[in-house]
Amino acid sequence: MKKKNIALIGFMGAGKSSVAKELSRHLKRELISTDALIEAKEGRSIPQIFKDSGERYFRKLEKKVVAEVSREQNLIIDCGGGVVMDPENVAHLKANSLLIYLWATPEHLYENLKKSPVRRPLLEVDKPLEKIRELIKMREPFYQQADITVDADKKTIKKITQEVIRVIS
Ligand code: S3P
Repeated sequence: MKKKNIALIGFMGAGKSSVAKELSRHLKRELISTDALIEAKEGRSIPQIFKDSGERYFRKLEKKVVAEVSREQNLIIDCGGGVVMDPENVAHLKANSLLIYLWATPEHLYENLKKSPVRRPLLEVDKPLEKIRELIKMREPFYQQADITVDADKKTIKKITQEVIRVIS
């Protein structure tokens, strides 16, 4: 039976990639990461794309990838944190996916990001916590377009995954 994709959205550091991996394992569904797909297509890392070609170019690639994966079924989609800023991306995703927003406070995101090995070019600034607060303020209405919001604040990946499975069942 064909099933809608499950697309995880939310700010950098919310745990989208780790939760997506767990969901993929538990629900036996293929995992697609928009960032990983962009990197594979371009043959260079996200920080390198930002550095050499700029954010606008990255967003163009992201848009293509979102349109592509939105045509599929049965996937777990790990969306880059900025995907929902483009209304067409949201429309594409919503056509075929259940959108789940992993919500967390700026402080929690910041703590997670400090531990993360993944580089986030947008946060490579003097005051990352302030930047996180500023970006979230701007992005929150976009994240709110999700079908379901899951509280990911100060929770383990296991707990968040369990919660996602509970709300979709
Ligand atoms: C971005 C989030 C990143 C990545 C890029 C831009 C954003 O993905 O797509 O660095 O604009 O929020 P994660 O949310 O997986 O860190």
